[in-house]
Amino acid sequence: MSKLDLQPLAGANFGRHVRVTGATTDAEVIEALEAEADTLLSAFYDGHGFMLLTGLDSMARDPSQLVRLSRLFGPEVEDYTKTGMILDRVHKEVPEILVISNAAPMNQKPPARPEPALTADGKLPVQFPHRRGWHTDQSYRRPPPDISLFYCVHPAPIDQAQTLYADGISAYEALSDAMKARIDGMEALHVQPGTGRAELAVKAGETPKPLGPLQQPQRQPIVRVHPVTGQKALYLCESGQLDWIEGPIVGLEKGVDGDGARLVYELMSHFTSAPYAYVQEWRAGDLVIYDNRCTIHSATWFDGDATDRVMWRTTVRGNPGPEYADETPSWLPAA
Ligand SMILES: [Fe+2]
Repeated sequence: MSKLDLQPLAGANFGRHVRVTGATTDAEVIEALEAEADTLLSAFYDGHGFMLLTGLDSMARDPSQLVRLSRLFGPEVEDYTKTGMILDRVHKEVPEILVISNAAPMNQKPPARPEPALTADGKLPVQFPHRRGWHTDQSYRRPPPDISLFYCVHPAPIDQAQTLYADGISAYEALSDAMKARIDGMEALHVQPGTGRAELAVKAGETPKPLGPLQQPQRQPIVRVHPVTGQKALYLCESGQLDWIEGPIVGLEKGVDGDGARLVYELMSHFTSAPYAYVQEWRAGDLVIYDNRCTIHSATWFDGDATDRVMWRTTVRGNPGPEYADETPSWLPAA
């Protein structure tokens, strides 16, 4: 009899909440998930590539458990010291873990609050463009990573530092036939954040930084066909991870006021609207597993002066789909 209890995710129209019956330690949870990996992965994909586990408290003291669990989700758990990451953000003992924190030495500033801070009915803003920062992880690499595992070591208070997620499969399915036909085969131009090519940087007249040969903007399809399920999903970012100088959409009018910009605004406001969105309030020991091929996410503000928030992330790669077959990774020097 299965030990996995696979429930719909409360507060979302996608995703699964996974519990393991009879397990009293994180090691027992992981053993049970490994023993029923096929069931786990079916539930993950049935939930459009999104899953929540809770109560994994000892993982914070044994980070190797996160890497072990990550291995269930793909061929390779990435070593962040080999992906061009800032080394201060890589876990000192476990290089497969990226530490996302405002504490030293990571020193990542919390995102700004939206303007206004709440919606007209007093809620947390979720929908673009009121909410900014929506992206899929490292889409500036080609091929991009497949799946991320995001674990809460030390949360900010409830009502702060949520992560927002959106379901690209349902959002794609709900598009009009005319829009589906319009974006079929279209590509967006993605680029590393902080290089002066973001929408707001271009609007502010910043001089873009020179890009090295391994930092070049990368084309990515706006509609990805999932290599496991065959489902189509929207695949797009907004301000910070698109190139608003040469893009944002390949073949459309360039720049922050062009037809490409208008299409990004139209698609992203749809993608992040209520039917497709989910708000994750973090507690210590929560683990969210999300498929970057068919979901996007965004971070929210927290009081970094009052809290040292600590999150760990792994990324799994190796199955981006036939679109990327036999490509040399864009972030590695040519052999
Ligand atoms: Fe992210």
